This record gives sequence, structure tokens and C-alpha cells, in this order.
Amino acid sequence: MIYGCFIVHNSPTAAAAEQYRRIRNNIRIAAGKKEQISLVITSPSPGEGKTTSAVNLAVSFAQRGDKVLLVDANVRNPVLGQVFSIKQWPGLSDGLASNMDFAETVYPTDVERLSIIPGGSHLPGAADLLDSQAMSEFLDRARNEYSVILFDCSAVLETPDAIALAGRCDGVVLVVSSGKTQQKQALKAKRLLDFGKVRILGSLLNRG
Ligand SMILES: Nc1ncnc2c1ncn2[C@@H]1O[C@H](COP(=O)(O)OP(=O)(O)OP(=O)(O)O)[C@@H](O)[C@H]1O
Ligand SMILES: [Mg+2]
Repeated sequence: MIYGCFIVHNSPTAAAAEQYRRIRNNIRIAAGKKEQISLVITSPSPGEGKTTSAVNLAVSFAQRGDKVLLVDANVRNPVLGQVFSIKQWPGLSDGLASNMDFAETVYPTDVERLSIIPGGSHLPGAADLLDSQAMSEFLDRARNEYSVILFDCSAVLETPDAIALAGRCDGVVLVVSSGKTQQKQALKAKRLLDFGKVRILGSLLNRG
């Protein structure tokens, strides 16, 4: 189990859970009147707490009453299956690469209103599928059924995936580790996001 992934679920009164709720509310405000939102969770560098934040934010939105879909878009190193103790496939890569029904890749969780899509099989070219027509069709389908769609993605300085995916979503939540990221890296990531015309809808300073 990844540290603190379910703090919002298991300890809703903890200070950390309060912070996730605050970020969730800020995202709602930044999204304006839009009821349906899709977001990419990313960070400048690997290991800054993206998965931990994505799970807690997803639970937090579900607690507010949103129907939430959390998708593992870290197709090179997917972990959500493990976090939720479900199998890793069929998942996102399988759904995008084949004409498998979307519903076959969605798994319910113990958290009410929260479903997840694990990363799926290791397929060559899976990362390219994140920026494909198949992804547009996937998003159309997901938006019909869920009010909040969160993608747990790789880091901005690690792969081009997060920026490519964010172009199809409303924006990103940038998770920055106070211990791991240097200002230079954070600024470099910000420049890449700006160049990609990506909207930062929220940022989260993680102490991990
Ligand atoms: N606030 C925190 N306090 C202590 N440890 C933390 C905190 N947030 C995350 N961690 C730990 O840091 C490690 C990385 O966290 P996590 O897997 O969420 O990062 P990530 O950005 O998703 O990593 P990756 O780039 O590999 O996908 C994990 O072992 C996690 O338990
Ligand atoms: Mg991760």
C-alpha cells in the first residue's frame, strides 16, 4: 500500500484530508460553472506524490457527491491496480488499443461513487495512445457517465504524456514535493506547461 493513499477515506477529519478538500473546492471554483471536469494529476519530477494525491482527491470528490472515475494513465509504470488490490488489466491501454468495451475496463471500488481504470497490459506504443483519436472517444464516453475524471499521470520532465493528455482535459493539478523538487525543475515544468497552453487548475505542495 502506498503511504497515505486513503487518508481522506480512512481519516476524514485529519489535517491532510482537510487540505485535499480545500484543493478539491478550489478546483471546482477554478473550473467555473462547468459541472463536468477532467484533470491530469502530474508533477515536475517522478516520485513527488502524484498517485497519493490523485487517490485522495478522487475520494474527496466522491465524498462530495460527484461520480468519479480515476484512471491510471501512467502506462509505463501503472500502480493503481495494486493500490486498489485489483488486477492491472484489462485497463486503459487495452481499452485504447482494441475495440474492447469501455465498461470492461472500469472497476468499482469500496469507496461509494468512485470507479477506477487500471493501467492495463504493457503494450508497445501505449503512451502514444494517450494522444490519439481513441483517447478522444474514450473521454467522450467517460464524460457521459462521470462528473469528475482524474488521470494519474507521469511527471512533466519525465515524459510528454501529461501535457499531451492535458490538452484534451480541462487542465492539470501540479503536485510539487517540497523535499524533492528544486525551484529550477519546478520552473522548467511550469514553462513546458505554459508552452503546451495547459491550464494549472490547482497545485499541491506535498511534504513527501
Ligand atoms: N505526504 C507524504 N508524506 C510521506 N510520504 C509520502 C507523502 N506523499 C507520498 N509519499 C510517499 O512517497 C512515495 C512516492 O509517492 P507516490 O507514489 O504518490 O508518487 P508518484 O509521484 O505517484 O510517483 P511516480 O512518479 O513513481 O508515479 C511513496 O512511497 C509514498 O508513500
Ligand atoms: Mg505514481
